[in-house]
Amino acid sequence: MFRVPSRPPGALYAIGMGCVLALILVAGLAFAGDKARFTADGALIRPSNYREWIFLSSGLGMTYGPNAPASGAPLRFDNVFVNPSSYQAFRRTGRWPDGTVLVLEVRESQSRGSINERGHYQTSIAAIEANVKDSRRFPNGGWAFFDLTPRGEDSPKAVSAVPPGNNCEKCHSTNGAVDNTFVQFYPELIPFAQKFGTYKPGATAPEAQH
Ligand code: HEC
Repeated sequence: MFRVPSRPPGALYAIGMGCVLALILVAGLAFAGDKARFTADGALIRPSNYREWIFLSSGLGMTYGPNAPASGAPLRFDNVFVNPSSYQAFRRTGRWPDGTVLVLEVRESQSRGSINERGHYQTSIAAIEANVKDSRRFPNGGWAFFDLTPRGEDSPKAVSAVPPGNNCEKCHSTNGAVDNTFVQFYPELIPFAQKFGTYKPGATAPEAQH
């Protein structure tokens, strides 16, 4: 008669534990895999999948810098994304952990097109920039800025930081509501920063465009 071979309980336990450990490892890799990655000489490897990250907010026609467009110029959209593990950490602590990559995607807009009469919708990319936290790598408060704007065929896979002492840094550290970041414009995050006391008192929006 056929009999199912019985395994000793110890072997079953080992197989079970093996599966659990493998799952933890895979989950850990998936979670850590979205952090900032650098080449050996410190250039930021372009986060090509940022469009699969967490969408923080979208500003329309925001003007806050020396590159602000002339009044009456077509409005641009600013779309902000962050890597998912840092978004989770922010909700737990009100702080951005090392490895955080915030991406600002600036897009042109159009008004009349297809069936649209008066509203504005997004079109081509005008610029892509990043603000990255790594306190061991970057001396200035642990943040560095990157211009990731695509340059067609010549777009490098990795980009060096804008050198320290730049305008990005000055405006962000002076006006950002949480550390170096403009959480005052990401409404869904504001309560977490307030809960953990990281929202700078009186943080306001500067006047000036990317
Ligand atoms: C005069 C102020 C000012 C300057 C200069 C400036 N920014 Fe910003 N930046 C902002 C504001 C305001 C936002 C809010 C988001 C928006 O535009 O919708 C922002 C958002 C960002 C974000 C989204 C994440 C965050 O930090 O909140 C990135 C990335 C970014 N800027 C990169 C840069 C880079 C790179 C430079 C320099 C080349 C730069 N910025 C210069 C004001 C500034």
